[in-house]
Amino acid sequence: ALEDARVPVIWLEFQSCSGDSEAFLRANQPTAADIILDTISLEYAEVVMAAAGHLAEEAKHQAMERYKGKYIAIVEGSIPTGDGGVYCTVAGKSALETVREVCGNAAATIAVGSCAAFGNIPAAAPNPTGAIGVMEAVPGAAVVNLPGCPLNAANLTATIVHFLTFGKLPATDRLGRPLFAHGKRIHDNCERRGHFDAGQYAEAFGDEGHRKGHCLYKLGCKGPETFHNCPTVRYNEGVSWPVMAGHGCIGCSEPQFWDTMTPFYRR
Ligand code: SF4
Ligand code: F3S
Repeated sequence: ALEDARVPVIWLEFQSCSGDSEAFLRANQPTAADIILDTISLEYAEVVMAAAGHLAEEAKHQAMERYKGKYIAIVEGSIPTGDGGVYCTVAGKSALETVREVCGNAAATIAVGSCAAFGNIPAAAPNPTGAIGVMEAVPGAAVVNLPGCPLNAANLTATIVHFLTFGKLPATDRLGRPLFAHGKRIHDNCERRGHFDAGQYAEAFGDEGHRKGHCLYKLGCKGPETFHNCPTVRYNEGVSWPVMAGHGCIGCSEPQFWDTMTPFYRR
């Protein structure tokens, strides 16, 4: 039989809204189908797999054994550590047990979305479940963080292709985020920057400045504090991104943005 050259992937999901799975499934360049059929072999992913219950569990364990040290683990959602991990269990195991087992035996782990990267909304004060991100949950594992609420699927594809091409994860910043996606500030690539420099601001949603595309800083834009490639890669096949659509950046890819970037609006 022909050897399958696709890299096996185990996609785990814990405390999340499935927004990252959705973002991946709706990706158009390339489509999720292209990636699933040509690049990766998705061995386990709760949102898209046909199997359920014991069969699904069996598929996960078989993949872990067969591809030990060779598969990519993708993790979506935060990991609760409070009260022995009771707040998120799958097949009778806590998220913490599962993430340690699956990521501990992976060639590399990609934490998709801000919850898996940093804990994010489940970890927002007072963090009732003791939620943490993957790097904290599996110390020492090779993890790259692709934060965003949700992540940009274009950055996931680029990370997987980088891994397949070079056999290692891309270079990152001190927060474990790839530099190709998080090396520059939103503010430095924003198409409204000329208006910021000229002191032209939208003062209220729907006012003349807002309609003319002026800077959204006075409405609360966090672009000056946020490192992400949204202005250049954009979303939905490069169609648009938050600031282009008329809403300030809320800093969704920065650690604990729910606590540190609020209030989202300045007036
Ligand atoms: Fe900077 Fe935001 Fe203004 Fe763009 S809209 S120039 S990111 S403050
Ligand atoms: Fe998030 Fe700001 Fe980009 S809110 S999607 S980092 S423009």
